[in-house]
Amino acid sequence: MNRKPVLIAACLAGLSGMSSAQELPADDAARGYKAYTHHLCDTCHGTVGQGGERGAGPRIAPGVWPYPAFAQQVRKPRLVMIPYSEKTLPEQELVDMHAYLRTIKNPAAAKDVPLLKDF
Ligand code: HEC
Repeated sequence: MNRKPVLIAACLAGLSGMSSAQELPADDAARGYKAYTHHLCDTCHGTVGQGGERGAGPRIAPGVWPYPAFAQQVRKPRLVMIPYSEKTLPEQELVDMHAYLRTIKNPAAAKDVPLLKDF
């Protein structure tokens, strides 16, 4: 019996398994807001990611980092931020948080706000 096709099929299945493991679960911004506040990200980064007082945490939205960099920072922070492991912060909550942060848009320009026009 020729076992090659079986071996190749098994390898392909393994490879496709690997790639699907890297696919992210569907996200939900409303759940993400809850996770963002539940895990106290807002205490350092502000409710809408605007950054915390007295340099507690930098501004992270609008313009949140792409997901891989965002996830890397949360799992293995560059400097003094506390790390969040998969155990405390499951991947589902992390993708939801990222979805929430993506919904945050820039505020209107001063020239487009009637009250600020004369300043
Ligand atoms: C105790 C304060 C604190 C908490 C809580 C915190 N962070 Fe941070 N975060 C920081 C600081 C300080 C930095 C600057 C880089 C560093 O120290 O690693 C940072 C950096 C970041 C960055 C990179 C932005 C940049 O420009 O450096 C992201 C993204 C981020 N945090 C997301 C989160 C998320 C999501 C959570 C909640 C799961 C969270 N942080 C909780 C303090 C905090």
